[in-house]
Parts: sequence; structure tokens; C-alpha cells
Amino acid sequence: MSAIKVEGVSKVFAGAGGQSMLALSDVSLDIADGEFVVLLGPSGCGKTTLLRIIGQLESPTVGRVRLDHGDRPERADRPLGFVFQEATLMPWRTTGANVALPLEMAGMGRRERTEKVREMLTLVGLPEAENKLPHQLSGGMRQRVSIARALAHDPQVLLMDEPFGALDAQTRDMMNVELQRIWLENRKTVVFVTHSVSEAVFLADRIVMLGTKPGHIHSITEVTLPRPRTIDMTESAEFRHLTAELRRQIGEVQDTEARPAVSA
Ligand SMILES: Nc1ncnc2c1ncn2[C@@H]1O[C@H](COP(=O)(O)OP(=O)(O)O)[C@@H](O)[C@H]1O
Ligand SMILES: [Mg+2]
Repeated sequence: MSAIKVEGVSKVFAGAGGQSMLALSDVSLDIADGEFVVLLGPSGCGKTTLLRIIGQLESPTVGRVRLDHGDRPERADRPLGFVFQEATLMPWRTTGANVALPLEMAGMGRRERTEKVREMLTLVGLPEAENKLPHQLSGGMRQRVSIARALAHDPQVLLMDEPFGALDAQTRDMMNVELQRIWLENRKTVVFVTHSVSEAVFLADRIVMLGTKPGHIHSITEVTLPRPRTIDMTESAEFRHLTAELRRQIGEVQDTEARPAVSA
């Protein structure tokens, strides 16, 4: 069953000076329930735009996105969770109160909320951080809190836009391992944006490579490496083979971009 159907989506932005700009051209994609899909591609290829369209933060100019609630219509009112590059936690609220916010807004009672917050902080490996303020946490810990907050209202789909892009390489590796563990525990459908090839291969069931000018699907690669994947596996022949192939493809789509425009 597909959780997300992107059907013939194009997006035109009104650019400076009234010129319009085609950011995405005819993108179609089916994402299965519980699948981990990574959108990969060079900067400016439309990854964020596509994610925002899937998340209904932006409307497509042409085409549509369908979120299939399948046999779980009770989820229709809480289908999405978002995690962005910056943690966007409220600095004056404790970690626990940040995670509780969407639950408060959904009208969940205090006792149930407290229980849920603890469950989520435990899930992301931060049970002791409940009463801390965001500035008392490291960047990686703040992103874990963002993930806890995004998962608190039990979304069907988790949308992540370069969530570990601001972290140092070592913390990022650790967060990738953690995210995989969390995903294996609760099997949300995840759409994850990155421009890191190794992050994509480490996390994905399927990698959707976007090309530029205009943004389009260049290729789709299935990653069949067994799970749980470990950092050691990034040294394996299969991992290296996949990353090499995807880097070659990024070179291709970047070459296209670098080529001077043909004048009419
Ligand atoms: N709100 C907007 N208005 C105008 N142009 C935009 C807007 N958002 C994105 N773009 C343009 O659309 C293209 C794709 O952007 P984006 O989706 O952010 O790419 P990526 O996330 O892959 O780096 C870029 O050329 C960007 O400048
Ligand atoms: Mg982006």
C-alpha cells in the first residue's frame, strides 16, 4: 500500500522581476507505507520544495499529492511530523515542554501528555533531559528532541529536511544510527532530504536522485543492505560501490547544470 502518491507535480515560483522559475518538473513518486525514502541531489535541485509539497506546506502548480490513510482513517488529522535542519525548539520551554507542545495543542490531558513525553524522550535516548532547557543541550541532543516532538503525536509520515546537516561528521554518524533504530522501532513512513551520498545510502530503502534545471527525478536506487546497518558497514564493498555510483550520478546532474545555456 502506498502512503504517499506524488502525481505529476510541477512547481513554478515567481522570481525576481516578475520572471517565473520552474523549480520542479513533472515529478511522480509512490512511497510505500513504512518505507524510508531519501531525496538526494545537489543544492538547488528542488529537494526542499518537493518535501514541502509532500508536507502540504506548499501547493504544487500542477499535479497533486495524495496521502493515503488506508485503513486507519483515525490518523487523518495527524498524518505528518516535521524535522528541519535547525531544531526550532522554544528556548524558554524545557525539553519536556517542547515535546509536549503539539500534544497540548491537540488537547491531550496533562497526565497522558507527561507519560507520552517520557516515552518519546526515552525513544530518542534522552530520558534525563526532560527538565533541561534547549541551550543546555548539544546540537545533536536538540535534534533528538525535535525528533521526539515530531513523533509525539504519532504521525503516519515523518518529513525530515537535512536534519543533521548542521552537525559535525561524528555526531551525524551517531544520529544516523539512532534514527535508524527509532525507525526500526516504529516504522513510520519517512521522507528524508540530504545532499550527503553516504547518509543517503546508510538510511534509505530507496534513494530518489533529483537532477537540476528544472528539478526532476534523475534516478531511483534501491538500497538492499541488511538492517540494522552499522557504521562498520560503510566500509563494505557494497556500500562503497553504491556511494561511488551515486556520486557519479551527482556529477552528471551537476555537469548538466554547469554547462552553459544554449542560446536560442
Ligand atoms: N519560495 C521560493 N521562491 C522562489 N524561488 C524558490 C523558492 N523556494 C525555492 N526556490 C528556488 O527553487 C529551486 C529549488 O530550491 P530548493 O527546493 O530549496 O532546493 P534544494 O532544497 O534541493 O537545495 C532553487 O532554485 C530555489 O532558488
Ligand atoms: Mg533544501
